[in-house]
Amino acid sequence: MSGKPKKMGLLTSGGDAPGMNAAIRAVVRTALNYGMKVTGIMRGYDGLLSGDIIDMHARSVSDIIHKGGTILRTARCPEMMTEAGLEKAAGICRVLSLDALVVIGGDGSFHGALELSRRGINVMGIPGTIDLDLSCTDYTIGFDTAINTAMDAINKIRDTSGSHERCSVVEVMGRHAGYIALWSSLTGGAEEVLIPENGAAHNSKERVIGQIIENRALGKKHNLIVVAEGVGGSEALAKEIEKVTGIESRATILGHLQRGGSPTALDRMHAAYMGYKAVESIQNDEVNRVIVFRNGRHESMDITEALNSDRPYDNTMYDIIKMLAR
Ligand code: F6P
Repeated sequence: MSGKPKKMGLLTSGGDAPGMNAAIRAVVRTALNYGMKVTGIMRGYDGLLSGDIIDMHARSVSDIIHKGGTILRTARCPEMMTEAGLEKAAGICRVLSLDALVVIGGDGSFHGALELSRRGINVMGIPGTIDLDLSCTDYTIGFDTAINTAMDAINKIRDTSGSHERCSVVEVMGRHAGYIALWSSLTGGAEEVLIPENGAAHNSKERVIGQIIENRALGKKHNLIVVAEGVGGSEALAKEIEKVTGIESRATILGHLQRGGSPTALDRMHAAYMGYKAVESIQNDEVNRVIVFRNGRHESMDITEALNSDRPYDNTMYDIIKMLAR
């Protein structure tokens, strides 16, 4: 980069997450404050490859801080998994004279950015996914709104589950990770939670049914079982519980409603800090990095290091859920 960076591209990619709009607003307004131009790229890497771009100014991001989804739209882009797609995307960034490309998204989106950085494009990642499944950061934009949505749904299911004295199985999102399941179970007061991190034996129908029978002996009239989508099989589990215990059981898959809604204050706060920090880092000539939240601070981390970081699974939350469910 010769001189101060003047122009950046901005895209949202992968599954949308509440708070992405607040992050877009923060990036655009901070960039304008530094005198940078912002090119908005529609529908993630798809829009980059097809040249679907817009100029962004202060008023482009008015009245979006409270809105779910992303005004830039988003997509999953298989072409970015190919050599030809990556070369083409890097070439378009050069034609657009982007001094940096800001990517708001999750793991797959960051891998796309990493590949672009290997082809000479300066990239900056902002973690946006409801799954909280990026090991490099303690927070990803969208997680708090998603767990509040899941908790709210669990509250409602609890009402009907209690009235009918049923067992309710609730399946939540999270891809291969159990964070949404754990947090919504703790805050929703679930009796049991099945997450990929605990392994197949622990998640077996036999063990869960044994727990429900034990709960009946403890005087519990109904049960709430949360299942992470990475474990799946909630319909089959509900059927088996009913067959073995005689307790009426129902499964509810929460699905995509967990991805929508007005972002919570926590999501908006992280979006503002991360968006601001991303642009500030670019201004300080930091490139090929990701903004992370670690030890209570927002900071930037090398993108290769970020994608190679490891966060060992800690069973404490599961143990607390189980202890409080007795
Ligand atoms: O990554 C967010 C997420 O909602 C995951 O929890 C889920 O596995 C996936 O996206 C669903 O993706 P899609 O909306 O493409 O079906």
